[in-house]
Amino acid sequence: MTSKAIAEIRGATSLDDLYRIFNANHLTAGWHKKRSSLWPEPRTRFQPQNWSYAEAAQAMDRAGEWMSTEDAERRNLLMFNPVDDNDYDTVRTLVCAYQMIKPGEYARTHRHTANAMRLILDAEDGVFTVVNGTKLPMRKGDFLLTPNWYWHSHFNEGAANAYWIDFLDVPLVHRLEPMFCENLPQAHQQVTSEPDPDTCPFVFGLEQMIAELEKAPIGADGNRRHRLDIDAYIPTVAVTYIDVPAGGQVAEPRTTASRIFSVLSGSGSAQVGERGFEWTRGDVFCVPSWHAFAVTAAAPSLLLEVSDEPTLSKLGFFISDAARSL
Ligand SMILES: [Fe+2]
Repeated sequence: MTSKAIAEIRGATSLDDLYRIFNANHLTAGWHKKRSSLWPEPRTRFQPQNWSYAEAAQAMDRAGEWMSTEDAERRNLLMFNPVDDNDYDTVRTLVCAYQMIKPGEYARTHRHTANAMRLILDAEDGVFTVVNGTKLPMRKGDFLLTPNWYWHSHFNEGAANAYWIDFLDVPLVHRLEPMFCENLPQAHQQVTSEPDPDTCPFVFGLEQMIAELEKAPIGADGNRRHRLDIDAYIPTVAVTYIDVPAGGQVAEPRTTASRIFSVLSGSGSAQVGERGFEWTRGDVFCVPSWHAFAVTAAAPSLLLEVSDEPTLSKLGFFISDAARSL
């Protein structure tokens, strides 16, 4: 604080005088701040929301008439939460997007500190991604990892458009601020290996996941779950497959985790907070933190849940309303 400020403080004749001087010196009296900084339980401005794959696929097909992957870097549709002027974050820590790539196109090579995952919705033979030189097929139903700072590019050498959902922890990176990103100067990275995808730790094939679910015990709610062991590669998120029988339900009380659900197969309805909606294959919906939800399957359904629970757990911030001692 300057000697001028000290002189002004000495000369103040009221608290209001002091507040003006504090403000000019970038100080706020804790009892006089604009808004409270502590509250009794979690608050989020993020809202329950759902998105339709059929609509997104149609929209990307139309956009593809004018926008190439050359121009767009990625031809994707971000599923943003309608909160404030946000046009990116799906939930507070995660973003997801539908992406489409046409035959003969490629999405050029880049890398970033944010972790990425992809759920392939529709792809014919000839669609693949290259992750740090490793060529991996993108087959319908595959779930693929692209960890922090791994080079990645995508190719469609097939005959039909390919569609998938990207999940990234970019909003978490935005909030903590460790963002780095770079493009490979040459568009294509060298392919240095082409492993059997069934043995690659970055590939979770649908048949393999169904086999894991069949081995899993039926939970108290009547559903089978398989959580991927990906902490060594992507420590920020949990990815869980949930096999729900016809008429079954996935219901949870409020927790501090934010979640994104996508639908691998089946159909049904959901109630998230105040929002009720129906879902079918390829659809996505989000459960912001501290929202109870109930998802009901009309037909046998396979759901994929991506949540930030590991980030919260590691920091001691994961709290469930059902088991809280706070
Ligand atoms: Fe990327």
